[in-house]
Amino acid sequence: MKILQINASARREGANSTRVANTVVARLQAGNASATVTVRDLAVTPHPVLDEAALGARFTPADKRTPEQAARVALDDALIAEVLAHDVIVLGVPMYNFGNSVQLKNWIDAIAQAGVTFRYTANGPEGLIKGKKVYVALARGGLYRGTDKDAQVPHLRNVLGFLGMTDVSFIYAEGLAMGPEAVEKAFAQASADLEAALA
Ligand SMILES: Cc1cc2nc3c(=O)[nH]c(=O)nc-3n(C[C@H](O)[C@H](O)[C@H](O)COP(=O)(O)O)c2cc1C
Repeated sequence: MKILQINASARREGANSTRVANTVVARLQAGNASATVTVRDLAVTPHPVLDEAALGARFTPADKRTPEQAARVALDDALIAEVLAHDVIVLGVPMYNFGNSVQLKNWIDAIAQAGVTFRYTANGPEGLIKGKKVYVALARGGLYRGTDKDAQVPHLRNVLGFLGMTDVSFIYAEGLAMGPEAVEKAFAQASADLEAALA
């Protein structure tokens, strides 16, 4: 089992989403001694935004790219290769202003590539990142699970599924801004969600 852990908090230290993702990875390793782990911390090595230059690089044929354009495309390609090379993806995902961190957005924008990780067929879109198990470790200050204020889970289910990653389990640590008791409860709930996902 090859595990890829993507930490998408803005914080390099003390991130709750990373803490939950670490717990998921440790639990997976406990159940599989030969599992290997690759960690990509997007706060430590931020991926660049999908801006006009990045789009221009991507849409320029490979043999016509400037060295700068080739280097920019190579950054995205490396993230795609990394995902494809692993069996299990563990995403540490904070909630910021009801949405995903820019770190996660940039990672998603990098790996979503037409003709590479998805394609359109006569029957509609087809995701090409197949056969992965994905765990999404969520950290939130408030309580939004199962409510219409939770835009993250439907969005992530949609975009990951679009890319072919349809086997996704969500692990919730919620209420982290609601006092010490709530924090304890949040991590206990995350552990319970993980055990339920593994059962
Ligand atoms: C800029 C910012 C915005 C936040 N927005 C929300 C929010 O909209 N809803 C919420 O429940 N918690 C919110 N929080 C609390 C975070 O979800 C919480 O601190 C969580 O631990 C963040 O994950 P991290 O520790 O992995 O960075 C916000 C925190 C920050 C710093």
